[in-house]
Amino acid sequence: MIYYFSATGNCRHTAKRIAEAIGDRAVSLEEADYNLILEKDEVLGFVTPTYFWELPGIVRHFMSDAEITLNGDNYTFLISTYGTTPGCSAEEARKVLAENGILLDASYSIKMPDNWTVWFDLSNPEKVRMQNRKADDAIRKVIERIRKRDLGNHQKPRAPYFVKTFTDSAFESARKTSNLHLEDTCIGCGLCAKNCPVSAIEMKDSRPVWVKEQCELCFRCLHHCPKFAIQYGNGATKKHGQYVHPET
Ligand SMILES: Cc1cc2nc3c(=O)[nH]c(=O)nc-3n(C[C@H](O)[C@H](O)[C@H](O)COP(=O)(O)O)c2cc1C
Ligand code: SF4
Ligand code: SF4
Repeated sequence: MIYYFSATGNCRHTAKRIAEAIGDRAVSLEEADYNLILEKDEVLGFVTPTYFWELPGIVRHFMSDAEITLNGDNYTFLISTYGTTPGCSAEEARKVLAENGILLDASYSIKMPDNWTVWFDLSNPEKVRMQNRKADDAIRKVIERIRKRDLGNHQKPRAPYFVKTFTDSAFESARKTSNLHLEDTCIGCGLCAKNCPVSAIEMKDSRPVWVKEQCELCFRCLHHCPKFAIQYGNGATKKHGQYVHPET
């Protein structure tokens, strides 16, 4: 079983490619049952974006709260997709899973287009296509390692775990929904509210309203809006374009 969380399709694509290659199933964490009994020797994989050098909250909560019954010689792996660095996400996953009685056998990382468009420019389709082509090569290599059941932390470039102290506080502030704003081009279609993974958006008088003080900051609403009417911060996101993986 391969679990994934994906806002703009990178992790969904990665999880599906791996599942196809090893004859397994890829399941979104948003639809996952928190009770899982693994089959004998089955693979247990997690494919996640990196957020501020860490795991997204949704993934962390699943890893710590799911009731997973191991069976035989299971192989457990993490894949963090990332744009610049997966930071200390592997170390974090290893600790969270260990507290839930699960040993993480291996961790890998796949460099993909960076959907944190506050900083990264994804407005050039040719460059983005190139990045996804390279990512597909990296996925193929990880599949080989999974087939061989390689062990250990193969993520790179990594960050030491203590930096989490700093990234934690930066993320707490960044994920305030007051940083997200709506432009006049909104047509009130409701897609953002329907698809927010933590129901942080509600439609009021045909306009989306953020009803929670903080959210996951996954950028699904920003990148999927048909009118590109949701922006973050000082407006750099507008310049840097919208992104969804071509196979989303
Ligand atoms: C809030 C936020 C924080 C991010 N932080 C990092 C980061 O620390 N390092 C990194 O390399 N990429 C970072 N990214 C980029 C994503 O991890 C990357 O684009 C990922 O592949 C997106 O996966 P998805 O398309 O499945 O949602 C961040 C993206 C968002 C939205
Ligand atoms: S997805 Fe975009 S256009 Fe649709 S309601 Fe949300 S902000 Fe408005
Ligand atoms: S409000 Fe937007 S960025 Fe925040 S969790 Fe919902 S979809 Fe993701």
